[in-house]
Amino acid sequence: MRHHTTFRQLEIFESIARLGSFTRASEALFLTQPTVSMQMKKLSDIVGAPLVEQVGKKITLTEDGRELAQASREIFAILDHYTMSVSERQGLKKGKLKLMAITTASYFTPRLLGDFVKLHPGIDVSLHVSNKEHVLASMADNLDDLYLLGTPPDDIDMIAIPIMDNPIVVLAAPDHPLAKQKNITLERLAQEPWIMREAGSGTRNAIECMFTAKGLEIRPRLELGSNEAIKQAILADLGISALSCHALALHAPGQFAVLDVKDFPIRRHWYAVYPAGRQISVVARAFLDFLLAQRDDLSACAPDGGKAAGESPLFVATV
Ligand code: PGA
Repeated sequence: MRHHTTFRQLEIFESIARLGSFTRASEALFLTQPTVSMQMKKLSDIVGAPLVEQVGKKITLTEDGRELAQASREIFAILDHYTMSVSERQGLKKGKLKLMAITTASYFTPRLLGDFVKLHPGIDVSLHVSNKEHVLASMADNLDDLYLLGTPPDDIDMIAIPIMDNPIVVLAAPDHPLAKQKNITLERLAQEPWIMREAGSGTRNAIECMFTAKGLEIRPRLELGSNEAIKQAILADLGISALSCHALALHAPGQFAVLDVKDFPIRRHWYAVYPAGRQISVVARAFLDFLLAQRDDLSACAPDGGKAAGESPLFVATV
């Protein structure tokens, strides 16, 4: 490769390789699509071979492309390491924090980042919110400093630190016939039409485990890939569902009924996770300490659905 490949071109290419799309790379880097396409054309001219193949809408890397993606990641890891040692010398005045959060963690992560950045205004943060598949791929490629998720993978060697409670509560429309009942059984719930998250979602796995453990099965009436769509479907009387109580942040009191179910809430945790062999940066360590210092406040999400305080089952979680 001749000497005039620029870091910018490698950065664009790395984004395309990671995100699998020119459009998403241009959005992530705040560039126009023609700029991205032009830079990619220049890069593949310099390399002298195509780097990507397009089949329909899907982008795949050629063998040359895969090698260049790996080389780009290594170059950026070296630069990150350099930035890290500079920020170590400068304390927390400057530096970068790259976070990735699983879909449901997006309800609280931006607020935490906001509070952290107020304390350390010189630090640049980036947050990727994605589904399980992308989070696991990013972990395997060691792309981010910390990952916030509900189910640490058991096939990758990771350090997983619990940072707050993640209670899963059963939700129905406020005028649902079960909304006023107490101590509802799982057997009774299994008869209801359910709206479920997509296969592979941590929330869905937790619900299915709970029912399977009692020899029960729920048949989803509807499967939706987002908590927001599920909440809309509940309000449209399409069925009931169970979601992390963090998904209720910012909702007005009484908008949803949190059902008083015998074996709920399911008590889970949110974890901050990083690869076992990785020495985390000063900035990532500071963010982790910041999370741990306020662990009790962060967990204030009425995990028992208000049962302990004798409240009505219509409550609203504030995160
Ligand atoms: P989600 O949540 O995969 O259902 O978005 C993460 C988890 O709870 O594991």
